[in-house]
Amino acid sequence: MPIEFDTVQKVFGKPPSQVIALDGLSLTVNDGEFMCILGPSGCGKSTLLFMASGLEKPTCGIVRNDGKTVTGPGADRGMLFQQFALFPWRSARRNIEFGLEIRGISAEERWNRARKWLDIMGLAPFANAYPHQLSGGMQQRIAIARLLVNEPEVLLMDEPFASLDAQTRTALGEELVRVWQQDQRTVLFVTHSIDEAIMLADRLVVMTRRPGRIKADMPIRLARPRDSASDEFNHLRKTITDLIRHEVHGIPEEANP
Ligand SMILES: Nc1ncnc2c1ncn2[C@@H]1O[C@H](COP(=O)(O)OP(=O)(O)OP(=O)(O)O)[C@@H](O)[C@H]1O
Ligand SMILES: [Mg+2]
Repeated sequence: MPIEFDTVQKVFGKPPSQVIALDGLSLTVNDGEFMCILGPSGCGKSTLLFMASGLEKPTCGIVRNDGKTVTGPGADRGMLFQQFALFPWRSARRNIEFGLEIRGISAEERWNRARKWLDIMGLAPFANAYPHQLSGGMQQRIAIARLLVNEPEVLLMDEPFASLDAQTRTALGEELVRVWQQDQRTVLFVTHSIDEAIMLADRLVVMTRRPGRIKADMPIRLARPRDSASDEFNHLRKTITDLIRHEVHGIPEEANP
């Protein structure tokens, strides 16, 4: 399903302490596209995902999902929050099963699906552990499994791999690409890692400092699986690093020799 931000503005608070998080941002995430978003801290990336999920409303402008104005959350859009929280009173397995329970899926089917994701996440031995018994990275993998088990058509992921070690991060990135390619979901993925964005995206957007606007919007046409040591990858890495450095430090591009 395509997600469309049409001249979206988001203002938090009231004068004199109001914050303009986004100002007139327009962006369409096409159906089946894997879009990664990079941008300086505080530029409005999470705000953008919250609006796509329907948990926040734009101050001005419209957000559409599959052509219809988003008015609230829906099961077709799954969000993984930056401050993801597991239910502390539920085991790993029952955290993953939560969405399926709500949808009235049978216990057997729930367990079949949860077990598949516990396996993929390398957490099968921890099915009955509670969140406080798991490391931060393990909790994050449970949160990812809890999202993916529901197979939402649109995946909104806010720095989903932030607290994972490099190896797990790469493995889960590959898994996510596999899920995306298999089912052609629409993915909107926020990250601070330039390499991760180039590795995953088929379209990459860089945002400006707050108020966030689109600074660059580029297709990533590298063949998969991608090689982060290839010349094309290095070239993209340099281009995007420069774009972001200028944004973070406020250096005008023309000042760069
Ligand atoms: N609920 C809120 N109330 C008030 N201000 C908010 C709220 N949510 C976000 N903001 C402000 O809006 C701006 C954008 O925040 P947002 O969380 O979207 O940034 P971000 O790009 O996700 O940053 P980071 O990379 O650090 O996660 C920030 O200045 C933030 O302080
Ligand atoms: Mg954020």
